[in-house]
Amino acid sequence: MIFVKSEKEIDLIRESCKIVKETLEFVGSKIKAGMSTKEVDELVERYIRASGANPSCLGYGGFPASACVSVNEMVVHGIPDHDTILKDGDIVSVDVVADKNGYHGDACRTFCIGKVSEDVKKLVKVTEECFFQGIEGLQAGTPLYDIGARVQRYAESHGYGVVRSYSGHGIGREMHEDPSVPNYGRPGTGVRLRAGTVLCIEPMITMGNWRTKVLADGWGAVTVDGKPAAHYENTVVVREDGVEILTL
Ligand code: MF3
Ligand code: CO
Repeated sequence: MIFVKSEKEIDLIRESCKIVKETLEFVGSKIKAGMSTKEVDELVERYIRASGANPSCLGYGGFPASACVSVNEMVVHGIPDHDTILKDGDIVSVDVVADKNGYHGDACRTFCIGKVSEDVKKLVKVTEECFFQGIEGLQAGTPLYDIGARVQRYAESHGYGVVRSYSGHGIGREMHEDPSVPNYGRPGTGVRLRAGTVLCIEPMITMGNWRTKVLADGWGAVTVDGKPAAHYENTVVVREDGVEILTL
């Protein structure tokens, strides 16, 4: 069931989203080669708590950290650890969810560490552009799968893969609510979205084939072909005449 949020609820989600946005900006200003993914997680946790919020990922389904930190061929859900050290040329996605007043906000950025090759930089840029393609024309009445259809068309026009096993989602009192928002699909299909629906739109794009597998830790998802993947996510509100992006 898709919940339509009241303006009061949206205000609470907006507060959590502001913290997520600031957390990611803070991480972006600090992240560098030599840092472990655990140190990145510590930056995230400290910033969220100092803002009077809680890191929603910590303990979610047993996830053991405050942020998902996924390096290179890892697509999503990387468990931060002391042994994974960021190095020059890596890309690292940092996925952050915070809860300030019982409502969550969720966003992800993929950061470039030092000198990243041109082709990988392009993957990161196109993944971000996929999000903006996805929300193009999105407003009350838009069929849900138009979002994914737009993301897919844009990503595939660059020869990239669109991850199938993970999708965007609704958000509110729960981190994951209906509807599921795939990054692929047929235009003109799916429920017509209503104003006040809050969605996390999160293209996960691969340089090679889209197939992914889950690591032995039960969380980290990597590309089967080992090629790099990028991830970019914002929380948005569907409005009568467009979208409001809450995490930018
Ligand atoms: N932020 C992720 C998402 O977009 C969720 C993280 S999964 C968790 O759905 F278990 F780590 F919390
Ligand atoms: Co999300």
